[in-house]
Amino acid sequence: YRRLRVALLGAGAVGSQVASLLRKHGEELADRAGATLELVGIAVRDVDAKRDVELPRELFTTDAETLIVGADIVIELMGGIEPARDYLLQAINSGADVVTANKALLATHGPEIFDAADQVGAQVYYEAAAAGAIPIIRPLRDSLAGDRVQRIMGIVNGTTNYILDRMDKEGAELADVLADAQRLGYAEADPTADVGGYDAAQKAAILASLAFHTTVPLEMVHREGITGIDKATMDAARHAGYVIKLLAVCERLTDVPGASGSGEAISVRVYPALIERDHPLASVHGANNAVFVQAEAAGNLMFYGAGAGGVQTASAVLGDVVSAARRHIAGGVGVGESTRANLPIVPIGRVTTRY
Ligand code: HSE
Repeated sequence: YRRLRVALLGAGAVGSQVASLLRKHGEELADRAGATLELVGIAVRDVDAKRDVELPRELFTTDAETLIVGADIVIELMGGIEPARDYLLQAINSGADVVTANKALLATHGPEIFDAADQVGAQVYYEAAAAGAIPIIRPLRDSLAGDRVQRIMGIVNGTTNYILDRMDKEGAELADVLADAQRLGYAEADPTADVGGYDAAQKAAILASLAFHTTVPLEMVHREGITGIDKATMDAARHAGYVIKLLAVCERLTDVPGASGSGEAISVRVYPALIERDHPLASVHGANNAVFVQAEAAGNLMFYGAGAGGVQTASAVLGDVVSAARRHIAGGVGVGESTRANLPIVPIGRVTTRY
């Protein structure tokens, strides 16, 4: 097989598992990719930091820029905007295909990254950027490209689902269970991103952009977190036959006054909503995620699985690495992001709080 040089940036909960699985299943992945995936190095801030899994010390470096030069595939799992953005652009401009799980970066600088990739015929893979292990990026971008998505209702943050689920089942208070979500590796470094709905809003922007073939800027996503939900609210919802879930709703609206052309616009909003107990989304427990997609021809589809967690999310990252390797050896060109629809986005909040 031809050897492809794979550089990894970041060795946190997801990154360390990616490195470990890549080494453990290297031969099998080579057969699938048609190329040997050689992990040439892992760039980190602190070489001696404690990792979730043991990896050879000689793989680590603090020099990301040197590692990127000459890599065929760069996996960015550092998170945050800078220097992740800078490194991804460097990787793209030096001819690499890139794999990232960086929802914050894609939700805020997606067009810049995708344009840079288009310019040089590179491809950006980001299956792990929304809903962890669940395949949802490819289904929205590829499998449903011939359909018209009408609505997505997603539970896209594992931490808040874990918290709300335990509040519902045990009558716990938010603060009591947040620490457990952090300990289990679900929460972001700053859990405000989870409980404040910021993480879900980033994922909603990414999913809506794909579903409606447009660019949804993060600032157009209405966002509310779960910090206002307490035991009393949870109990009241239960007595009324509902469960509270933090929902990301991405919706195509029709006959919108003032929307030119088709009269269509889209609305993207994240907020705690009441879900009827027999709705499929009501039975999403723990840190699981689910994305309920309603499309014109396909009807209702539900994607379900682990939405957070290092090894689970590593599965989505490695799928992207295999895709990148296949495309790389085939000498393919980027498929690009189809963002030509440019539907207007209407800034509305809670249209309904009950589903
Ligand atoms: N903190 C995120 C969550 C991790 O809880 O869903 C996965 O993006």
